[in-house]
Amino acid sequence: MDENILQVAASWLFQHEKIAVLTGAGISQESGIPTFRGNDGVWKHYRAQDLATPEAFARNPELVWEWYLYRRQLVREKKPNPAHYALVRLKNLKQKTELITQNVDGLHRRSGFGEHTEMHGYLFRDVCTRCSWEREDYESHEKIPHCPRCGSMMRPGVVWFGESIPEKAWQHFHRLSRECELLMVIGTSQVVYPAAALSQYVRQRSAYVIEINPELTTSCQGKSIYLGYKAGFILPKLIDELEKLFKKTREVDR
Ligand code: APR
Repeated sequence: MDENILQVAASWLFQHEKIAVLTGAGISQESGIPTFRGNDGVWKHYRAQDLATPEAFARNPELVWEWYLYRRQLVREKKPNPAHYALVRLKNLKQKTELITQNVDGLHRRSGFGEHTEMHGYLFRDVCTRCSWEREDYESHEKIPHCPRCGSMMRPGVVWFGESIPEKAWQHFHRLSRECELLMVIGTSQVVYPAAALSQYVRQRSAYVIEINPELTTSCQGKSIYLGYKAGFILPKLIDELEKLFKKTREVDR
């Protein structure tokens, strides 16, 4: 591993206040949750158009619910990994750090990160297809849950292909794309929009980008650092380096 590049990345984090973090399925890979693309990705084994579109749900809600109940079961047993916890340490050191995740697994919640945007929704949420009433749902195993208020069918509270992300998520996304001084892009193939556009916008403004992904996804021009490792391996090391910089400054101040 190139210690030098890690130190440069840490110094970038140290020097900037408005840090944005975008995460994708790769950050949860070491928790045992499969990613969507790549060799063993979910979309190699299943077709997104059969399971993750409004049309699929209209055609066969029972099948779609079966898929989401299966995913809930899978995720329920998993825990945040060192990468999720490293981001909590980053937030403690750099309090203006803001997080947007494409993940619906809730592992950033469970790591204790605090407020963040789940731009594709939350796996353990049911939303009524008629009155939009919603609830968090960890236990129910109903084949198709029905709304306790109006009796209509409920759907998983996630954003499917062809749907827009929630308004609040848009606003957060646009604010970060305009304002952040440094963007960390962790574990995403950056092929699904709008998330994929964030690093493009940030690069256009000549702000800093640090990307963590064992596979190179975007061209690293300008003020970019690419760390080609698994997030659970490299993120804790990066934050260790950042902590060292904080310690050094405190010693000089004394
Ligand atoms: N650490 C960091 N990155 C990793 C790791 C790891 N341990 N393991 C895999 N990766 C990288 C892969 O190289 C890949 O580039 O994570 C990325 C995962 O990409 P995708 O599976 O495409 O996940 P994501 O980018 O989050 O997908 C976006 O697509 O299907 C939809 O709604 C779903 O939110 C998802 C969206």
